Formats: sequence, structure tokens, C-alpha cells
Amino acid sequence: MSRVRACAVSEVADGTAHRVMLGGTPVAVVHVGDDFYAVGDICSHQRISLSEGEVLCDTLEIECWKHGSNFSLVTGEPSSLPANKPVATYPVTVEDDDVYVEVDG
Ligand code: FES
Repeated sequence: MSRVRACAVSEVADGTAHRVMLGGTPVAVVHVGDDFYAVGDICSHQRISLSEGEVLCDTLEIECWKHGSNFSLVTGEPSSLPANKPVATYPVTVEDDDVYVEVDG
């Protein structure tokens, strides 16, 4: 795993997701309150960008806008069909004004 700068804190408004490309991998950086999360940006059902969907702050999930599967920001597991496979999750740290994500490679 290597730790790379994903974006500035100011690029991800609270309650939203921001798509970044990290080493060729699309990642959704998500901001909920004091915390940041990073999950694979491509829905495991079809090739839809999860960062275009709604962030469900209460349940710490992101919703795929295409068919409505919700993915945990913590585990990547979907809690509703039609998606039945998880998306990747990545460790996140915030340093000063920047968000860092640990990705493979
Ligand atoms: S494309 Fe995401 S749930 Fe179908």
C-alpha cells in the first residue's frame, strides 16, 4: 500500500463525494462530518460512478443513483440489491488541508 494525496479537504464538501484517480484507480473520497472515507468509485453492479450518487450520512453509505444499491463507506458492502458484491475501501488520513488515501501499489 502506498499513501498518496487524493485532494484538498476543501474539494469535498460535507455530505458529498468527490471522484479522484489514484494510480489509475477511480476512488470516491467522501466527507461526513469530521470524517473522510474512500471507496472504489465504480459500482459493483454496473460501471456507474458512485461519487455521482447521494451520500447517506446517517448510515455512512453512498447510494448508486442508477439502481439504488447502498454501499457502506466503512466496509464497502452493499446493503441492498441489485449489487451483491462489495466495492473496495481504502484507509484515509487528513493532514493539514489535504486528504491522503492508501492505495495498492
Ligand atoms: S449500477 Fe449501481 S446498482 Fe446498478
